[in-house]
Formats: sequence, structure tokens, C-alpha cells
Amino acid sequence: MQVRIVPSILSADLTRLGEQVREADLGGADRIQIDVMDGRFVPNITFGPKIVEAVRRSALEMFLEAHLMIVEPERHIESFAEAGADMIIVHAEATVHLHRAIQLMKQAGVKAGVALNPATPLVSVEEVIPDIDLLLLMTVNPGWGGQDFIRSSVSRIQRARRMIDTHNPRCNLEVDGGIYGDPDHNTALDAVRAGADTLVAGSAVYKHPGGVAAGIKALREAVSFVGMI
Ligand code: DX5
Repeated sequence: MQVRIVPSILSADLTRLGEQVREADLGGADRIQIDVMDGRFVPNITFGPKIVEAVRRSALEMFLEAHLMIVEPERHIESFAEAGADMIIVHAEATVHLHRAIQLMKQAGVKAGVALNPATPLVSVEEVIPDIDLLLLMTVNPGWGGQDFIRSSVSRIQRARRMIDTHNPRCNLEVDGGIYGDPDHNTALDAVRAGADTLVAGSAVYKHPGGVAAGIKALREAVSFVGMI
């Protein structure tokens, strides 16, 4: 199984978002992530369902993940699904009723993802691993792009990989934040070696000096010899 590369639009040039999404699509991205922030669950405010609609119009066939860094995400699942998201990712810390939120995602016809902030114990989601399509481990404290990878994430990824292999091997293990493929700063390789199979990258793609396709290519090459089959 090849590692999935998922550019997040937070670091894209929003004055030409459609072009930037198409560049990622043409550059071989496996998915696009829309970083939704409400200014309460995280300090920053970003996008809502209208941006998901715009991204969907820009890349009709692209798999879109809506990463809801918002409180009470269950109130917004239907609107993000209707906007065109293929997967919705909610934070376990942001809802009292995580199992119900997963049920709502399935009823809305989208794949169900659950995200954890760096300090949240993995055991808090162990009960729902059999029910989800993706577990996202934040490798930065969410809110902004361009932050440094939290080194202690490596052992979390290893433990999450064991939990997924035990309870639901089809569940994707995604990481998000500070993922780079530079030879002297290869956090992408660290994450994949630890067991991640899906890499979200904003700055490494949209701030790459060679452009979007080069950023995606660099990430793919950075992990290519891990031999994910
Ligand atoms: C949460 C944001 C970022 C973004 C990736 O802070 O959602 O994690 O996706 O940012 P980079 O790849 O620039 O660290």
C-alpha cells in the first residue's frame, strides 16, 4: 500500500484556491484536506462548508477530507457532507458524544475520521477504532500551519499502529502537522517508519520553492524506500 499524500489548503494561496487545488490533483495528491477552525476549539478561524463546495467544484473527482477543528462538530456534519466532503474528521476532545458523531457521519454517507490532539491519550478512542475509517494524530498543537513536528509523536504513532492493527486494520493512520520530506528534516519518514500511512502536509506542499507538484514529489520520495506495499 503506497503512503497517501494529503495537501491541506491552510497554507495554499487562497487568492487562487481553485488553481492550487488543481495543482495538487495534477501533482499526484491522494486527497485534499480542508482545515476547518472555529476560533474556539483552536485559536484560529478559517473555513466553512462554502469553501468545501468551492474545492469540490475545483476538483470534481478529488477525495476531500474536512478536518473539523471546531466544538460540537456533530452540529455541522450534515452541512459539510452536503458541501461535498468525502470524509469528515472530528476531534474526540470536541464532542461529548463521539460515538453518536460517528453514527451521524455514516448516516450522512461520508467516511468517518477521528482526530486526537498531542496530549490526548490514545485509549480515549480505543472503543471506536472498529467503527472508523481514519484515525488522525495531530503532530502539532492545531491552529496554524508551519509549526514544528512534536518529537514525542513518534511513539504515539507506533502505539496507534498497534491499536489499529489489533482492532481495525482497514483504518487509515494519518498524521498532521510539521510533516516535511527534506533530507535534513525528514519527519515524513519518521512518521511512516512509526506506522503512519497517510500524511497531511500544508507548508511542505504549498510553500515548496519548486511549487506544489515538486512538494508532493519530495514527500513521496522521502518515504519511498520504506517499502510500503
Ligand atoms: C492544524 C493545521 C495544520 C495543517 C498542516 O494546525 O491543520 O496542521 O494542516 O500544517 P503544516 O503542514 O504546515 O504543518
